[in-house]
Amino acid sequence: MNKILLITTIVFFTALSFTQAQKFEGLAETPPMGWNSWNKFACDVNEDLIKETADAMVASGMKDAGYTYIVIDDCWHGERDSLGFIHPNKEHFPSGMKALVDYVHSKGLKFGIYSDAGWQTCGGKPGSRGREYQDAQTYASWGVDYLKYDWCNTEGLAAKGAYLTMRDALYEAGRPIVFSMCEWGTYDPWEWGEDIAHLWRTTGDIYNCFDCEYNHGDWSSFGVLQILDMQEGLRKYAGPGHWNDPDMMEVGNGMSVNEDEAHFSLWAMLASPLIAGNDLRNMSEETKRILTNKEVIAVNQDPLGIQGFKYQMEDSVSVWFKPLQNNQWAVCFLNRTKEEKEIEFDWKNEMVKDEINDLSPDFSSNEYNLINLWDKKDKSSTKKKLKANLKGHSVLMYRLEKKK
Ligand code: GLA
Repeated sequence: MNKILLITTIVFFTALSFTQAQKFEGLAETPPMGWNSWNKFACDVNEDLIKETADAMVASGMKDAGYTYIVIDDCWHGERDSLGFIHPNKEHFPSGMKALVDYVHSKGLKFGIYSDAGWQTCGGKPGSRGREYQDAQTYASWGVDYLKYDWCNTEGLAAKGAYLTMRDALYEAGRPIVFSMCEWGTYDPWEWGEDIAHLWRTTGDIYNCFDCEYNHGDWSSFGVLQILDMQEGLRKYAGPGHWNDPDMMEVGNGMSVNEDEAHFSLWAMLASPLIAGNDLRNMSEETKRILTNKEVIAVNQDPLGIQGFKYQMEDSVSVWFKPLQNNQWAVCFLNRTKEEKEIEFDWKNEMVKDEINDLSPDFSSNEYNLINLWDKKDKSSTKKKLKANLKGHSVLMYRLEKKK
């Protein structure tokens, strides 16, 4: 009997020592949705802001629309203690991080935090380098559900190895945590990210403008169109559990309503994470309407998880398609200019094909109802040539429902 017990124990512990670290599976089968503090508040973060934002996410209907994660970005940090454990800034987070996470959870939401693979974060706070396992355990003990992991102050580090270390540390800590890599696309994370993270930034930081590049000296941030153009060629790397991340949204931060609608539509077409970056406590009705448009969100959250593609670009109007479940499609016409454009699109003459997934709407033999996702009154079908006027910096977006 004792012998059997001994053998079982040996087999059990041998098996345990061979358990490979991995990323947590099943956490981001559709692109993550939530809010992040950085775009609007930068380093000005505190526990009241986070609590009020969680309240607003519920009260505004955003939670019902699918937003889940409240992510606190850079600058929540205080100091490490004598044993190396990180603590939040005492003045701004007097109740401690665990209490804040509990509050967010009590609203039925999830909590995200931020760190950096280097010695210091981009905001000069303590980074996780050399403390990865300890920090991962701390986050798990606080009940964190999502980690955004940045890339400042990483001289001498190899990106893949650094992100792998944190992935393994999270796995060992044992709490399922969505892992968001933020190395700005520098080392082609789409090539090696799938086994490591659930999402990876593909570009430098977004800037609150539709068509601009903002030069900060030795780095730039980019407008919506600039970021959109940088997604070229990346769609084959995205899918359930592993997403290209063209950065958090600027909806509600000062662009025009048309521009915000276009920005939101394009992020939906790209199967991008939908992470709001505005002040949820003070949203205009327009901003709320845009961020909670359930039809557009459904395009983003479609279970196939296929990133859309640019089919055509003529006279600065680009046409995007995205295959959806049940033989449906989404289409988005984007006017990149400030001038109004007349568009004409004769469906039956268009040979639309998603080459990567071998899917085609085949307009010559199928008819689809057109459901306008921003203007409910507009009803039509692909039988008729589409003719429309598209205002500057705006989109026309439809779901295509196949007629039986
Ligand atoms: C980098 C990231 C941003 C934000 C800041 C915080 O610039 O790309 O998204 O997290 O750092 O300092």
